[in-house]
Amino acid sequence: MTSSLATVSYIGATILFILSLGGLAHPESARRGNLFGIVGMTIAVLATVLGPQVTSAGIPWIIGALAVGGAIGLIAAKKVQMTQMPELVALMHSLVGLAACLVGFASYVDTSAVFPTAAEKAIHEVEIYVGIFIGAVTFSGSLIAFGKLSGKIGGKPLLLPARHALNLVGLLVVIWFGRGFLNAHDIHAGMTPLLVMTVIALLFGIHMVMAIGGADMPVVVSMLNSYSGWAAAATGFMLSNDLLIVVGALVGSSGAILSYIMCRAMNRNFISVIAGGFGSGAGAPAAASAAGEPQGEVTPISAVDTAELLREAKSVVIVPGYGMAVAQAQHVVCEIVNKLRQSGVKVRFGIHPVAGRMPGHMNVLLAEAKVPYDIVLEMDEINDDFSDTDVAMVIGANDIVNPAAQEDPGSPIAGMPVLEVWKAKTSIVMKRSMASGYAGVDNPLFYKENNRMLFGDARKMLDEVLGALSA
Ligand code: TAP
Repeated sequence: MTSSLATVSYIGATILFILSLGGLAHPESARRGNLFGIVGMTIAVLATVLGPQVTSAGIPWIIGALAVGGAIGLIAAKKVQMTQMPELVALMHSLVGLAACLVGFASYVDTSAVFPTAAEKAIHEVEIYVGIFIGAVTFSGSLIAFGKLSGKIGGKPLLLPARHALNLVGLLVVIWFGRGFLNAHDIHAGMTPLLVMTVIALLFGIHMVMAIGGADMPVVVSMLNSYSGWAAAATGFMLSNDLLIVVGALVGSSGAILSYIMCRAMNRNFISVIAGGFGSGAGAPAAASAAGEPQGEVTPISAVDTAELLREAKSVVIVPGYGMAVAQAQHVVCEIVNKLRQSGVKVRFGIHPVAGRMPGHMNVLLAEAKVPYDIVLEMDEINDDFSDTDVAMVIGANDIVNPAAQEDPGSPIAGMPVLEVWKAKTSIVMKRSMASGYAGVDNPLFYKENNRMLFGDARKMLDEVLGALSA
């Protein structure tokens, strides 16, 4: 392939990646967005492999690597549960970071590159130094994030004394060694500062993520996603590959925007999350704490009575959460919705931006069950309608419908925007016990007069509700 054809292919792939991101912004166009991404990546890989920078001797190596990497990816994608997605994503980000480091070292020891001026050589070395730094931070940070999300490392933030000062000193040392690296006369002399910086960057990544509490880990994963984009862009600079620079910048900026959106939805300050110390213990039930003690009496309801309430309602809003994903109840939810709609009940879904355990978690499940997109509304679109709703049915959700976020300024989730289900005529909460949700706080919704608790596994309970509706 000539270099001009490779450039044209790169431009085509870039356009497809931009269209892909645009498509992924909405559930209705997400499939198309995914397809654009797949086609774009195929063009990008083919144009690179068949392009002028790869010699024929390298092809068997590339095919071997593609086969091994592709097989691992395929097996992982088949095996991983939807709820384990954030940890898989964290692990994948670590690979991008590792790749940036390896490419950086390879570029440095590659003596075939010729630089016409000293300035160009210096720019190339700065790219290598910065690229390896970002890559190493992303690599070790993502591994720690994987450990925390999978429960292999405790969720409690590790707060070393004077940790900000420690980070600052680390950064100054990195800059100092950077000077030594740029002034080195040969590869051998430059290797020592490069290795010292890499070790500091690895420690920095570990320290940064260890200091962040489990409850803030989703933001961290999205932030590391952004870092991995910048690491890829840095790799693009090292390899003079325009496509990698553009794609890295797209991933870097979209990851940063997603982190910001998630922070807003969880009422976190982005800078405070990065600085660490927030979110003391992921998902740990708060029952032991005083705030976690049950605060009143709850009114249970049976599946048959739930079906009766739904049948008599004119308007129903369903709020799904993490428990619906765990119970894999989305298909039976869809059947119930179809049945109610056939008998003239107005049914809609209210989706919180951080419902479940990953962005878009609920939308993916509902799309899989073929729930029509036009009845799936975002929190801001539905929140004003609860006062005109007969039944708000909460399926395995907890934090996202917790009125304490609005009513109790001392609550750990104070200020987080929530779905105001308690404003409906009747709210029904479907969950197995009185256990708290991810944030580990008690939920005053359960004790409200107009609230009913349908205790049990969401799938089992919904099967019973469907049975009663069909009878
Ligand atoms: P949670 O607050 O975690 O509540 C889920 C509830 O589902 C639990 O209280 C649990 O109660 C119930 N449950 C679990 N398995 C169930 C089953 N088989 N059947 C019925 N119920 C079941 O979930 P949420 O309301 O979706 O809120 C999400 C939380 O996760 C927020 O705090 C958010 O900040 C955080 N978070 C979000 C993300 C993203 S990006 N979406 C990522 C990580 C964390 P029982 O045990 O009593 O059944």
